[in-house]
Amino acid sequence: MNSQLYSKLPADLDLLRLPQHVAVIMDGNGRWATSRGLPRIAGHRQGARTLKELLRCCKDWGIKALTAYAFSTENWQRPIEEVDFLMLLFERLLHRELAQMHREEVRISFIGDLSALPKSLQTQMERSMTQTSNNQGIHFTVAVNYGSRNEIARACRQVAELVQRGELNAEEVNEKLVEQHLYTTSTPEPDLLIRTSGEMRLSNFLLWQMAYAEMYFTDIFWPDFDRAAFHQALLNYQGRDRRFGQVKSTLSA
Ligand code: IPE
Ligand code: IPE
Ligand code: MG
Repeated sequence: MNSQLYSKLPADLDLLRLPQHVAVIMDGNGRWATSRGLPRIAGHRQGARTLKELLRCCKDWGIKALTAYAFSTENWQRPIEEVDFLMLLFERLLHRELAQMHREEVRISFIGDLSALPKSLQTQMERSMTQTSNNQGIHFTVAVNYGSRNEIARACRQVAELVQRGELNAEEVNEKLVEQHLYTTSTPEPDLLIRTSGEMRLSNFLLWQMAYAEMYFTDIFWPDFDRAAFHQALLNYQGRDRRFGQVKSTLSA
């Protein structure tokens, strides 16, 4: 491993025990804004800056994958103005940041039912995924109109169709096969989940994939989640004993 490359990593973090894949539930944008007397959308705007910084930080510190929950299947129930603003924000951000992310070797993926999103946003998303598909710097996945139950039901439907067409025997359905029909197929599962704003729930995020993720909850609102806060989360993670059902930890082995 090239330690020169990750020279920015804080000295108290162990390079060899970093999570390979970090997932974040970016929560608290609205409360961050309200507590400052600002409209909720100001929180989303600031939250986007925080995400950009976190992506850069992950890359600097040698973390291979970052997945961010940006919009859930349940978030459609918010006021139409907020939903419209978020869709516009995603599109504007993608348009503005794509070239630089590509230069920085970021591979971008979007997961969720993208077909329900505005057409122009879908086009931007497709373009960014195609353009960056061979990049090796960091794998950045954004979950938009994502819901885990929806994802699992969709996988079941696809598998059932294979059986119905006689291309698969029911006995051949196993965990590996189900995984192949999830949006995240061929992406290693998250090692660490971070949720901000003090809420301690998964809100329908990566339920299958996080069967063994370490979870870290902080009261900090997402827009304030900076490098120092991420550093704390990683220190906490490195203190965990990941046993995966065994007696001995696999990290300290
Ligand atoms: C998370 O912040 C962003 C999205 C869900 C899009 P919230 O908008 O949920 O902020 P709070 O929870 O209302 O403070
Ligand atoms: C979860 O946050 C979804 C995203 C961060 C995109 P919410 O704020 O929507 O979750 P709940 O409603 O508090 O569970
Ligand atoms: Mg919230």
